[in-house]
Amino acid sequence: MSDATSGVMRVVEITTTDTHALRRAVLRNADPARSVDFPEDDLTGTFHLGVVDGAGRIVATSSWVPKPSTEFPAATAVQLRGMATDASMQGTGVGGLLIEAGAERCAAAGFDLLWARARDSALAFYAKHACRVVGDGFVDATTGLPHHVVVRDLT
Ligand SMILES: CC(C)(COP(=O)(O)OP(=O)(O)OC[C@H]1O[C@@H](n2cnc3c(N)ncnc32)[C@H](O)[C@@H]1OP(=O)(O)O)[C@@H](O)C(=O)NCCC(=O)NCCS
Repeated sequence: MSDATSGVMRVVEITTTDTHALRRAVLRNADPARSVDFPEDDLTGTFHLGVVDGAGRIVATSSWVPKPSTEFPAATAVQLRGMATDASMQGTGVGGLLIEAGAERCAAAGFDLLWARARDSALAFYAKHACRVVGDGFVDATTGLPHHVVVRDLT
């Protein structure tokens, strides 16, 4: 379990179910009719990290899936999925705490590469965390939003 901390904020391992509320609120426009399940959620090796505030509330979630990257198939890679910070906390640093804790855990576990299908609206966030864009942009089928693949070397 990760134990990264920043002030009262703690990064902890959470369950798949723990991710659902923020996935729905932040990534699915709070639409109760839309699925918040990812096919990779319960695969061996997948884990979920959240940021918990001083009141025990989960204020950010993320999912980490061992999965090769199309762009760098030889790398031992992990895909970051479902990055979501509670709207009231966006821009306060909790997402940064989360991605750094996850990247550190994955590097320690021997992964070479972190990759994600990033919303274009979040590219500045990923760039701040050592991620670079690879390839052309595309529209994600689930959200209809423009995306790019980003990668971060973990070695
Ligand atoms: C992208 C996101 C996960 C980052 O988490 P966060 O806790 O807001 O991030 P931090 O506070 O650590 O980092 C701040 C940076 O994130 C970016 N950011 C802040 N609010 C954002 C928002 N609503 N949407 C996208 N990026 C945002 C900015 O680049 C910001 O840098 P700045 O303060 O210098 O402008 C979060 O903003 C979010 O959930 N956004 C909406 C959903 C989303 O886009 N998820 C990612 C899907 S790939």
